[in-house]
Amino acid sequence: MLIALLPGDGIGPEVVAEAVRVLEHVAPDLRYEQAPVGGAAYKATGHPLPPETLALAKRADAILFGAVGDPACDALDRHLRPEQAILGLRKELGLFANLRPATLFPELADASALRPEIARSIDMVIVRELTGDVYFGQPRGRRTTDTGRREGFDMMRYDEDEVARIATIAFETARGRKRRLCSVDKANVLETSQLWRDVVIEVGARYPDVALEHMYVDNAAMQLVRAPGHFDVIVTGNLFGDILSDQASMCAGSIGMLPSAALGAGGPGLYEPIHGSAPDIAGQGKANPLATILSAAMLLRHSLGRAAEADRIEAAVAAALAGGARSADLGGSHSTREIGDRVLAALA
Ligand code: NAD
Ligand code: IPM
Ligand code: MN
Repeated sequence: MLIALLPGDGIGPEVVAEAVRVLEHVAPDLRYEQAPVGGAAYKATGHPLPPETLALAKRADAILFGAVGDPACDALDRHLRPEQAILGLRKELGLFANLRPATLFPELADASALRPEIARSIDMVIVRELTGDVYFGQPRGRRTTDTGRREGFDMMRYDEDEVARIATIAFETARGRKRRLCSVDKANVLETSQLWRDVVIEVGARYPDVALEHMYVDNAAMQLVRAPGHFDVIVTGNLFGDILSDQASMCAGSIGMLPSAALGAGGPGLYEPIHGSAPDIAGQGKANPLATILSAAMLLRHSLGRAAEADRIEAAVAAALAGGARSADLGGSHSTREIGDRVLAALA
């Protein structure tokens, strides 16, 4: 089994290194090939997603991705910016389904931005659509109007097939859990969202055993902090899912804790922490690697069918936290490497 390692920028290489140490321990038979991506790839080759990197991703059995993004690249033309690499990988590999589980490790109840008694109820999966919406809709651009004013525009767009396939993933995910699905949209204002809601209801007819509700995204943002335990599975579009998952991460203790899986039809899955390259702490050994270590567990479970090894990693993370492992984002002082050491110690 070949794992493509795409560490990327900022803290990406730091957190991927710890996840690889953990993977090497629990699954010593895996092979790895690494390639540059994001700002690092732009600096080396002039392109954030070089053809060789894309080719490696396509022939791998699964991809472990760190993060992309570099303030030094923010002035580049959009197609050369580091972020285009992750967007390009998602699109090229057809990774339309993004699973972002947000659970509270009980040891982290005090690290949550919420009161511990509220935080303790958090156990949800955000199913985020990942290859459509305003991220990819056409037309988009910037121009100067006849009256000399600058304007920018992005098309929010979904077709019914795109909504139906992510809704199906979400209903199936709910079937494996508490059978509650909350579809989040803005159907009171947006046509895209009204189509979304109609199609989710149609797909839901095939899942009478799953309790379906609909919530406007503004209310969902509020309920996520008022009563996060209300949610089992959330399904939503690309932009709303991006925002709500960062919010959910702080309810669960830290942005450095949440893993994700990006899955499509058949090909390799891509696994990455939900956070970015964190330029403010890059190179200081401060980053929390647990989101990436937990992403490696998702890789084993979803792409390689090795659930027992995934369970071992998740149990080791819980044990490390119970033993007091805390990086700065969780109010502690352990380095990235020390957190990795503690997970490895729990495995041994
Ligand atoms: P960010 O997630 O990189 O950082 C936000 C804040 O969270 C920062 O204060 C950072 O220090 C902290 N943080 C993030 N991950 C952490 C970790 N593992 N441990 C401890 N603290 C952590 O978001 P941002 O600052 O808005 O974006 C920075 C760059 O990352 C931008 O270029 C952005 O486009 C990019 N980005 C990339 C991805 C991705 O590659 N999938 C995701 C999000 C943002
Ligand atoms: C994420 C990131 C990306 C997104 C950016 C870097 C394109 O925020 O993976 O959550 O918006 O999807
Ligand atoms: Mn994001």
